[in-house]
Amino acid sequence: MQEHISTTFKSKFEEDVYKGITDFPKHLSSQYFYDANGDKLFQDIMNMPEYYLTNSEYDILNNHKEVITNWFSKGGEQFDLVELGAGDGKKTKILLEQLSRTAVTFNYVPIDISQNALDKLQAAIKKELPAVSIKPLQGTYFEVLDQLNSLEHTKKVILFLGSNIGNLLHEQAIVFLRNIQELMEEEDLLFVGFDQKKNPQTILDAYNDATGITEAFNKNILTRINRELGANFDLDKFLHWEVYDPESGTAKSYLVAKTAHTVNIGALGLEVAFRKWESIHMEISQKYDDEIVSWLAEQAGLKIDAEYSDFKNYYKNYIFSKKI
Ligand code: AVI
Repeated sequence: MQEHISTTFKSKFEEDVYKGITDFPKHLSSQYFYDANGDKLFQDIMNMPEYYLTNSEYDILNNHKEVITNWFSKGGEQFDLVELGAGDGKKTKILLEQLSRTAVTFNYVPIDISQNALDKLQAAIKKELPAVSIKPLQGTYFEVLDQLNSLEHTKKVILFLGSNIGNLLHEQAIVFLRNIQELMEEEDLLFVGFDQKKNPQTILDAYNDATGITEAFNKNILTRINRELGANFDLDKFLHWEVYDPESGTAKSYLVAKTAHTVNIGALGLEVAFRKWESIHMEISQKYDDEIVSWLAEQAGLKIDAEYSDFKNYYKNYIFSKKI
């Protein structure tokens, strides 16, 4: 029996946790994985040998940096290299370094909701690539892109790396791409990383590592609910379960209750009952092929100008422009 006493929510986090955990079937949003501990666990994931995505994209950028940056600087005019999600800049530095060797003038504009992430990135760029002009902007992607457009009319090259788009359902990805498309001018470019369909075992291994880092990453959201919403989730009562559907290309992660039990979430005045083997859906990590990417582009009013892959064809980066 699930009873809700308070009717107003103090934050979007409270509201989303309430809606997801009282829904049937239960779900929580992977956007809440990323507190300080979640950021650290994701860094660890990116360093795992099984998590091929990071190295694949790194190899693509490294092997094709000249031709990719030639696309960016085509026409010779000054541009803003706008990155959605600051990250640690490891992959972007390849492009920044390459661009610094050319005569083209550009500003690097990382956008992130976390000022802390932006401060760290700015310090690293200042130290390692002092010639690069960096202008970090804090806020949500669309707020800031909108702001950029109203301030100036500099050409934009927008980066969205890491197959972050894969954490969106197709309908959400179309809305996301369309929102960007609407903020693009004819000369602007969008550069996006899409993890590709491949041997299902390779995908399962990337999201179900033997060392348990991905499990800890998934369960971190329960720790966060315990700390921030006064809950008493027992992490040992859940197991991490990953599935991959080769037909749709969707990898999904779940936490599954090993025993029937109840959990209290103090801030929500909520008692949540779990049946034995009941699941909480946590995340989707979509995998793509050319057909799906072309369809997404078409739906969003974009056209594909170029695409680059690693030698194993595990991953692809596509350059899009606005379909006029
Ligand atoms: C951030 N995002 C693209 C990662 C992914 O591959 O879906 C998050 C992740 N989840 C488990 N491992 C990594």
